Amino acid sequence: MEKLVAVLLLASAVGGRAASFPFIFNYFLRIDCGLTGKTTEHYNNQTWFPDSFFMDHGKTKQISSETHRNVSQVMTTLRYFPNREDKNCYSLPLINTQKFVFRAGFYYGNYDGKSQPPVFDLFLGGQQWATVNSSATDGPVYHELMYAPKNDNISVCLMGRKEYGDTPFISYLEATYLDEDATDNHTVYGMMRNGTAYHLVARLNFGGHDQVLEPWSGMEDVCEERLNRYWTPQPMSGYTNLTFVPTSCSGAAYENRPPNSVINTAISPTNASQSIYVPINFPTTTPQSAYIVLYFYQDLGSKNLNATRNMDVYVDHVMRRNVKLQTYRSGEVVTLYPVLVQGTVNVTISPANGTVLPPLLNGMEVYYATELTEEASSSGVFKISYSFIVVGVCQLFLSVFLGFL
Ligand SMILES: *[C@@H]1O[C@H](CO)[C@@H](O)[C@H](O)[C@H]1NC(C)=O
Ligand SMILES: *[C@@H]1O[C@H](CO)[C@@H](O)[C@H](O)[C@H]1NC(C)=O
Ligand SMILES: *[C@@H]1O[C@H](CO)[C@@H](O)[C@H](O)[C@H]1NC(C)=O
Ligand SMILES: *[C@@H]1O[C@H](CO)[C@@H](O)[C@H](O)[C@H]1NC(C)=O
Ligand SMILES: *[C@@H]1O[C@H](CO)[C@@H](O)[C@H](O)[C@H]1NC(C)=O
Ligand SMILES: *[C@@H]1O[C@H](CO)[C@@H](O)[C@H](O)[C@H]1NC(C)=O
Ligand SMILES: *[C@@H]1O[C@H](CO)[C@@H](O)[C@H](O)[C@H]1NC(C)=O
Ligand SMILES: *[C@@H]1O[C@H](CO)[C@@H](O)[C@H](O)[C@H]1NC(C)=O
Ligand SMILES: *[C@@H]1O[C@H](CO)[C@@H](O)[C@H](O)[C@H]1NC(C)=O
Ligand SMILES: *[C@@H]1O[C@H](CO)[C@@H](O)[C@H](O)[C@H]1NC(C)=O
Ligand SMILES: *[C@@H]1O[C@H](CO)[C@@H](O)[C@H](O)[C@H]1NC(C)=O
Repeated sequence: MEKLVAVLLLASAVGGRAASFPFIFNYFLRIDCGLTGKTTEHYNNQTWFPDSFFMDHGKTKQISSETHRNVSQVMTTLRYFPNREDKNCYSLPLINTQKFVFRAGFYYGNYDGKSQPPVFDLFLGGQQWATVNSSATDGPVYHELMYAPKNDNISVCLMGRKEYGDTPFISYLEATYLDEDATDNHTVYGMMRNGTAYHLVARLNFGGHDQVLEPWSGMEDVCEERLNRYWTPQPMSGYTNLTFVPTSCSGAAYENRPPNSVINTAISPTNASQSIYVPINFPTTTPQSAYIVLYFYQDLGSKNLNATRNMDVYVDHVMRRNVKLQTYRSGEVVTLYPVLVQGTVNVTISPANGTVLPPLLNGMEVYYATELTEEASSSGVFKISYSFIVVGVCQLFLSVFLGFL
């Protein structure tokens, strides 16, 4: 209550600016959970808000440096909710209601000393997003989806389950606007529909050794990742690794704006008459609608005049698309949607009739789709926390502003 009064006083000091101000920030909303202060933090060229702007219940914890295993700094604090059957909600003040990447990160790091990584539920807009199993990997666990919210103040909630009796926690939360103007092509995941959430299964960088992500490459590098996606290197034994020397900032020209570090590496069969086989494991064995994106690109140098690469794309023996790269520098982004899948699916890239060069594959993204019947309007609880956000960010604005004086 004391906090509320103080914050309301601040809000009245800022006056009319209060209501609209937060929207300046929220193309990239990055929330570091468990930070207690009211100033932003900077890691790897990114600015993170402490979640104390957004959340006033639960408890915070810093993971001891002995237990965290070289995880990124944003993973070393968390907020946990001992009153586990409450829905513990963040309201995200977004710039608009177009497509966003929503990502939540969880790193247990034995913060409670019990060596019992919990299992709990994560919700987006009042609907089930994921079941978080914090022992699913040794390191951090992520859940990511792409979605165009109906509300520009969509909620992200955590809730424990009776059957597990676990305490939910969260390490970070991000919402990144998928700005179509960031690509020369003006198409970003163009076949994704409103009202459907696309859950990330894999986002792979073939032929490269590095994890490609935005902080790693730096925001100023226009050729690199600008949409806050993580591209995971996918070593494939038995294939040739190709690396193209980039002659231009090529990725921006294509749909979804693939970063140059992803499209300038690829795999290719060691024998030109053979195919590339990529198995994809979906998290459940129930039938699902998949959204698959394949990135093909070559940059062979202008002496390679006969650069035809003709490929057929199959999903489980069904031919889906023919791809032809005809010039020494050319590419194509292929989206397959909807693809009905179940369990494991094989994507095959085969040499097609008349090809001069063997098939190649530079990158791949795989999602599965769920309908998200988001809550129509927010409850009173959300309203209160939303007012905290508005004034919280005002306060931040004041401190930033004063900092410049
Ligand atoms: C952390 O990284 C350093 C250097 O990369 C390495 O020597 C060390 O073993 C790592 N520690 C853990 C716990 O993985
Ligand atoms: C969580 O993951 C661990 C490790 O993979 C597994 O043993 C356990 O059964 C999972 N728990 C649930 C509830 O799925
Ligand atoms: C963007 O690229 C896709 C293929 O990747 C193409 O179908 C579409 O026409 C392009 N859009 C524009 C505006 O160039
Ligand atoms: C989805 O909704 C947004 C904003 O509400 C709108 O601009 C966009 O055109 C819609 N897209 C489709 C495919 O209906
Ligand atoms: C931060 O951005 C600059 C400029 O883009 C870049 O040179 C630097 O490598 C980036 N640092 C990190 C840690 O990503
Ligand atoms: C390509 O790289 C992967 C892992 O980085 C490796 O397993 C594979 O053997 C390499 N291929 C060749 C032909 O060297
Ligand atoms: C390449 O593959 C084809 C068909 O699988 C086979 O006939 C041929 O002998 C292979 N060539 C080499 C050099 O392995
Ligand atoms: C390209 O190579 C193929 C096979 O090696 C050959 O049949 C074709 O005539 C070549 N085309 C040109 C334009 O050189
Ligand atoms: C996918 O490929 C694997 C190994 O090549 C095979 O065992 C499996 O049956 C294939 N699955 C389908 C659905 O074709
Ligand atoms: C391959 O292309 C040639 C010439 O375009 C055509 O005569 C032949 O029938 C094609 N083969 C197949 C299997 O499509
Ligand atoms: C959240 O957004 C919806 C739709 O834009 C609106 O009806 C509702 O009043 C908003 N809630 C708050 C707390 O602003």
